[in-house]
Amino acid sequence: SPVREFLRCLPKCEHHIHLEGALTPTVLFSLAAKNNITLPQDDDAFKSPASLLERYQRFTSLDDFLHYYYIGMSALVTASDFEHLAWDYFQHASADGVAHAEVFFDPQAHTARGIKYNTVMEGFTNACKRAEKELGITTLLTCCFLRHLPLKDCLELFDDEDVQKSYKSGVVQAIGLDSSEKPFPPENFTELYSKAKALGLKLTAHAGEEAPASYISNALQNLSVTRIDHGIQLVNDPELMQKIASEKTMLTVCPLSNVVLRCVDTIKDVPIRKLLDAGVQFSINSDDPAYFGGYILDNYVAVHEAFALSVKDWENVVKAGIEGSWCSAERKDQLL
Ligand code: ADE
Ligand code: ZN
Repeated sequence: SPVREFLRCLPKCEHHIHLEGALTPTVLFSLAAKNNITLPQDDDAFKSPASLLERYQRFTSLDDFLHYYYIGMSALVTASDFEHLAWDYFQHASADGVAHAEVFFDPQAHTARGIKYNTVMEGFTNACKRAEKELGITTLLTCCFLRHLPLKDCLELFDDEDVQKSYKSGVVQAIGLDSSEKPFPPENFTELYSKAKALGLKLTAHAGEEAPASYISNALQNLSVTRIDHGIQLVNDPELMQKIASEKTMLTVCPLSNVVLRCVDTIKDVPIRKLLDAGVQFSINSDDPAYFGGYILDNYVAVHEAFALSVKDWENVVKAGIEGSWCSAERKDQLL
C-alpha cells in the first residue's frame, strides 16, 4: 500500500529489539534438532512450529511470554546460531527500511546454560559487521541484565573479564534492564548502573511496561538512565511526563508488543497521541518480532491505522528517533 511504502522509505532507527526475540518457531525447531536440545514434552505448544506460533497468539502477560522466550533461546548454542539469528533480524530490518539498529541481547540467559559470553558475542558481532557492510545498516549492541536475577549475579557478569573487554573495546556500548518487571524495581540495580556509568556506557532500562509510572522516575533517579524502554505508563503521571518531555528523554515504544502482552487492550490504547501532544520524544519498535507478529514496519503501519498521523507527525517521530539514537553525530547528520 502507498502508506506502507511511505513508512518504509522513512529513515527509521530501531532502539528496542531483543535479538533473542527474533527467533521464529521454525528456526527454533531446526536449531533444537541440530543441537539435540529437548523441548518441553508436557506442553502441547511445542508439538510443532505451527502449534507454537498459535500459542504466541494467546499470551496473557509479560511473564507468560517470558516463559516461552527463555525456553526458545535454549536452542541457541554455537556462535553461528547467534549469527544466524541476528542476520535474520537485520535482513528483516533492511527490508523494512531501518537505517540504524540498536539491539538488545540477554547474555545471562545464555551463560546460565553454560554458553560462553564470547560465543554469543562472536555470533552477534559477525552479524553486525555483515549488516553494516552488506546492508548499510549501522548497529549498536546493548547488553541487557535480567532483573529477575539477584544483583550479585548481575555484578558478576558485569565484572567478568570477557564482558569488561567488550565494554572497553566499544563492541558493547550500552547496558539495559529487562525481564519480569513488577517484582523487581529499578532501584535494586543502582550499584550495577553506577559501575556502568563510571565506564562511560550508555544507560537504558525497561520501565513502565506493566509496572506503574513510578518505575520510570525510579529508573531515572537511581539508575541515571537517559532513555526509557516502553514507558507507556508515563501518561498516568502528567508531571513526570512534562519533565521527560522537557529533558528530551526518549521512550522506545513497542505498540504490537503492548497489545500482545495485554499491557493495553487495543492498539488505540497505546498512548501515541498523548505522547505527541505532550511533546515526549519516542521511537516505534518491534521488541520481540518473532513472538509478537510483526517487525518494525508492521508497528509503524499499525500506529498509522490507529492514529492517522500526518506526514509532519511522522517526520517528527522519525527525527526524534534519529536524535535519540546513540550513533555518532556524523551518522545522525546523514540520516536527518
Ligand atoms: N525481554 C524480551 N522482551 C521483553 C519485554 N517486552 N519486557 C521485558 N523483558 C523482555
Ligand atoms: Zn523489550
